[in-house]
Amino acid sequence: MSEQVDLFATPSAGARTRLATQAWVLHGYVLPHVDALLAGIDTVTTRAPFRHLQTPGGHVMQVAMSNCGTYGWCSDRRGYRYDRNDPDSGQPWPALPDALLQLARDAAAEAGFADHVPDACLINRYAPGTRLSLHQDRDEDDRIAPIVSVSLGLPAVFLFGGLARGDKALRVPLRHGDVVVWGGVDRMRFHGVLPIRPGRHPLLGEQRLNLTFRKVR
Ligand code: SIN
Ligand code: FE2
Repeated sequence: MSEQVDLFATPSAGARTRLATQAWVLHGYVLPHVDALLAGIDTVTTRAPFRHLQTPGGHVMQVAMSNCGTYGWCSDRRGYRYDRNDPDSGQPWPALPDALLQLARDAAAEAGFADHVPDACLINRYAPGTRLSLHQDRDEDDRIAPIVSVSLGLPAVFLFGGLARGDKALRVPLRHGDVVVWGGVDRMRFHGVLPIRPGRHPLLGEQRLNLTFRKVR
């Protein structure tokens, strides 16, 4: 169940919205760093191309994924897990580019999580019509360290729910350059993304990219 909440009209870059005790949207936070982000994503996905993973139930995920960092999130018929190697190449996942790591650390600090050092970054690519159903990020050993989520390209409606699947979820509009950070008491909240509406972003075309920085171990 979800609830339409007008959290903000059109927030200006630099503004922030509190979603919960330890959960924030930093509006337009990465806008000054988009070129570095896209270059980093390009480097990573040249070595570890986007792919549609299988779910344990045998379905193919709508969202295309890649990873960088010490650990990468993987899904197949055997289950969900983090792995040091890309199962497609057998090679370690590409390193987390310094510029991306620094941005994630700065955004976390901005949201009250000082000295956060993520060791994994999942890169999601959404085509129009693609959604991500409500879930908890629960494959990480660390259930307190924040998730730092960077949105680029087409806008999305992010669902931010409670600690139980059935709790009401906020509908949070996310635009190119926005960052969501949730951790601490809010780390295990259910979240998801409504189907991306058709459109063309001036820089990224018909797609939304999302990076989630995590601390796995
Ligand atoms: C995720 O939950 O991994 C991604 C969230 C998003 O795409 O905004
Ligand atoms: Fe997630």
